[in-house]
Amino acid sequence: MPEFQEKAPLLQKEAIAPGIFRLTMHAPEIAGAAHPGQFVMVQVDTSMDPLLRRPFSVHQVTSGGNIQILFKVVGQGTARLARLTPGDQLDCIGPLGRGFFLDRRDRLCLIGGGMGIAPLYFLAKRLLQTGESPGDDYVFLGGRSREEISLFAAEFFDLGYTVKVSTDDGSMGHHGFVTDLLGPVLPDMERVYTCGPFPMMRIAAQKCGQAAVFCQVSLETHMACGLGACLGCTLTGADGRYIHVCRQGPVFDAEEVAWTT
Ligand SMILES: Cc1cc2nc3c(=O)[nH]c(=O)nc-3n(C[C@H](O)[C@H](O)[C@H](O)COP(=O)(O)OP(=O)(O)OC[C@H]3O[C@@H](n4cnc5c(N)ncnc54)[C@H](O)[C@@H]3O)c2cc1C
Ligand code: FES
Repeated sequence: MPEFQEKAPLLQKEAIAPGIFRLTMHAPEIAGAAHPGQFVMVQVDTSMDPLLRRPFSVHQVTSGGNIQILFKVVGQGTARLARLTPGDQLDCIGPLGRGFFLDRRDRLCLIGGGMGIAPLYFLAKRLLQTGESPGDDYVFLGGRSREEISLFAAEFFDLGYTVKVSTDDGSMGHHGFVTDLLGPVLPDMERVYTCGPFPMMRIAAQKCGQAAVFCQVSLETHMACGLGACLGCTLTGADGRYIHVCRQGPVFDAEEVAWTT
């Protein structure tokens, strides 16, 4: 898989909700090679602090060789990214890792929790490029509140998907877990893709396993290099062996993961 390092000028910064931002960067080589589910390692500051790059899913590839990342401010690195302004440059390495398996013939459900929504939008758009209608396909989005989730719900809806939402505070859609939405539609599904908090994906994986529905999950671990060099991104696989999330993933078949961890 081709990987590139680009000095990507920041073209646009959108404040989506408090603490949530979407950045558009011009990175034509990464944009040209990116596959849904892959990620970029972003140098968040040109100083040595913080030293390590931070991983972000490719949220969208747009025309003219641009990529987008979508992120929530959780610490020093994301706070710095949030302070950038158009014209600043971001050093990005990517696209990295193994993305989602794409086969548009199946009936699909995409489940995103929190910032796990980020890679699913790229996936949803790429699936449309196969030329099939998404009319029978679902997108389930879980977030803390209407404020956090409503824009994404509208964007997936505009693509033609059937969108259902859950919120922690009950301000939009189902008041509870996003995986609660899966039960009624699962018997009709052939493939589920999910990204979000580990416990959410564990429930989705278990439900899919019980219903014999193929499920792919996009995992997050702490990544120091993203390139297979530091071995810091390990999780335990279903066979008890280590899996290196940055190289073997971040997307895995649900049955490859030991969900007990
Ligand atoms: C493949 C991959 C794709 C990702 N895609 C996105 C994305 O699209 N949008 C997004 O908002 N975030 C994404 N993340 C998570 C993102 O990389 C972290 O939020 C970011 O690195 C935090 O940097 P920071 O310096 O702000 O926080 P830090 O100061 O490094 O940490 C702040 C807090 O966040 C926790 N944290 C940091 N990194 C992770 C992680 N990888 N997993 C779990 N907890 C973590 C820390 O334990 C700490 O509690 C992704 C992670 C991976 C591995
Ligand atoms: S993050 Fe360094 S080996 Fe995976």
